[in-house]
Amino acid sequence: MIVRDARETDLPAITDLYNAWIPTHTITWTETIETYEQRAAWFVRQRREGFPVLVADDGGEVAGYASYAHFRGDGKWPGYLQTVEHSIHVREDHWGRGIGRALIEGLVERARAADIHVLVAAIDGENEASIRFHARLGFVEVARMPETGQKFGRWLDLVLMQRILDSVRP
Ligand SMILES: CC(C)(COP(=O)(O)OP(=O)(O)OC[C@H]1O[C@@H](n2cnc3c(N)ncnc32)[C@H](O)[C@@H]1OP(=O)(O)O)[C@@H](O)C(=O)NCCC(=O)NCCS
Repeated sequence: MIVRDARETDLPAITDLYNAWIPTHTITWTETIETYEQRAAWFVRQRREGFPVLVADDGGEVAGYASYAHFRGDGKWPGYLQTVEHSIHVREDHWGRGIGRALIEGLVERARAADIHVLVAAIDGENEASIRFHARLGFVEVARMPETGQKFGRWLDLVLMQRILDSVRP
C-alpha cells in the first residue's frame, strides 16, 4: 500500500467512498448522494487552492482517501489561513490495517510543508470510531457542540478535535 496524490482516474472510487455511509449513518451530515461531476469540480478547486488529495493505493485499487481545505469561510478570514479541516474515508474491508494512520501522516507532511499550523477534525458525536481514531493520531478534543446539526430527524452533536503542528510559526 502506498499513499500518493490522487489522479482524475481515482475520482469514481473517491466518490463511492464518500457516498458509502450517507444513506445509513450520520458520519456525513447530508442525505444527498454526491455525483461524479460534483466530485470532479471539487477536485479542480482543491488543485486551484493547492490543497492535497491523497489516496491509499493498494495494488492499483483506492482503499481510502484524505484531503483538507479551508477551516471556516472558504478562505474568507485571513486569520484562519494556517488552519485546515480535513476529511478521511477508508474502505470498510480495509479498516484496522494502518491505512487511516498513513493517510493522516501524509496530510500532516503536506500541511507542514504548506506552513499549516492546525489540523481540525469536525466529527459527528455518534462517530465513536472516528473520535478514537483521531485520538490515536494525536488529535485532542477541544469542543463538543450540542445539537448543531440534524439528520434522519434528530439533532446531532459536533465534536471538534485538533492537532497542532508545533514546528510551524505564524
Ligand atoms: C476512522 C477511519 C478513517 C479509521 O481508518 P483505519 O484505516 O481503520 O485506521 P487505522 O487502521 O490506521 O488505525 C489507526 C489507529 O486508530 C485506531 N482505530 C481505528 N479505528 C478505531 C476504532 N473503530 N476504535 C478504536 N480505535 C480505532 C487503531 O487502533 C489504530 O491505533 P494504533 O495505530 O495506535 O494501534 C475508518 O474507520 C473510516 O473510514 N471510517 C468511516 C468514515 C469516517 O468515519 N471518517 C471520518 C469522518 S470524521
